[in-house]
Amino acid sequence: MPQHSSSAAGSSGDFPPFRQRHLISIADLKQHEIIDLLDRAERMIDISRQERKSHPTLAGKTQINLFFEPSTRTQSSFEIAGKRLGALVVNMSVKTSSVSKGETLVDTAATLNAMRPDVLVVRHGAAGAVELLSQKVGCSVVNAGDGAHEHPTQALLDALTIRNHKGMLAGLTVAICGDIANSRVARSNLLLLGALNVRTRVIAPRTLLPAGIENLATEVFTDMEEGLKGADVVMMLRLQHERASGKMIPSVREYYRFYGLDAQKLGWAKPDAIVMHPGPMNRGVEIDPAIADSERSVITDQVEMGVAVRMAVLDALLPARNQA
Ligand code: NCD
Repeated sequence: MPQHSSSAAGSSGDFPPFRQRHLISIADLKQHEIIDLLDRAERMIDISRQERKSHPTLAGKTQINLFFEPSTRTQSSFEIAGKRLGALVVNMSVKTSSVSKGETLVDTAATLNAMRPDVLVVRHGAAGAVELLSQKVGCSVVNAGDGAHEHPTQALLDALTIRNHKGMLAGLTVAICGDIANSRVARSNLLLLGALNVRTRVIAPRTLLPAGIENLATEVFTDMEEGLKGADVVMMLRLQHERASGKMIPSVREYYRFYGLDAQKLGWAKPDAIVMHPGPMNRGVEIDPAIADSERSVITDQVEMGVAVRMAVLDALLPARNQA
């Protein structure tokens, strides 16, 4: 990815204090707070590209990653982020916890709270569960994805990836394609991009569009050719088999034919349009493997930006708590 122009690794002390205690939803952030997190993340890219990837502003702090849904990339991204900042990071997955023995979310929160963590990073299958948990604990809480509601750090890392490739955000056109109805990634992206004056479009079959989509400030398309025309960024989404209730598409083959991103469909976007995907990808379902691995794809850059954004979020939230 193009090199960005920020100075070498500095300290987070150059930024004004971040006023939020938790990061639950993009909807809670003001435009300047979003930009502040993206700027902080630029510093973290520098740190992560050094030989010695260490910036121990969180030394002595404890971070618990509490994942009620399986996750590889998001959990390891948060783990690496915390460790690069010097925090003690503990991973708890639901299978090994008491939740599978019937403990309620609130009991779990109280137990973890007694261990005096400084931050809980939580993924849960139910929308709103992470916010509920944040009301029951004394530490900062970061939403790592709650049901089909929000996935704020994904939207931040997507914005950072776009900004670094295109040199700007405002005025661009981003087309988000696929399973919009079940996607917390789409929701957080629509909120964040809208707040930064990026034009957004969603493209999906009617069955994969959420009710009330017309009320969000986005253009809605059911045809890929129309939706991709003039797009600067093509963001593909995974078909969320686990969240889609019932059969939302006639068949995977049919879906790929009309909505799978291949060279022909990508040709409808701008010639320099970049291709994104939050992962995990269903190759051959929503995206042609040849496109996923092509020069147009920035998918691995998204993963790199993910660590930087999570470092920025942890670094921003924790000092705020000390001053509270
Ligand atoms: C996304 C998620 O879990 O919401 N993936 C991720 O964070 N790596 C998108 C998805 O599951 O399709």
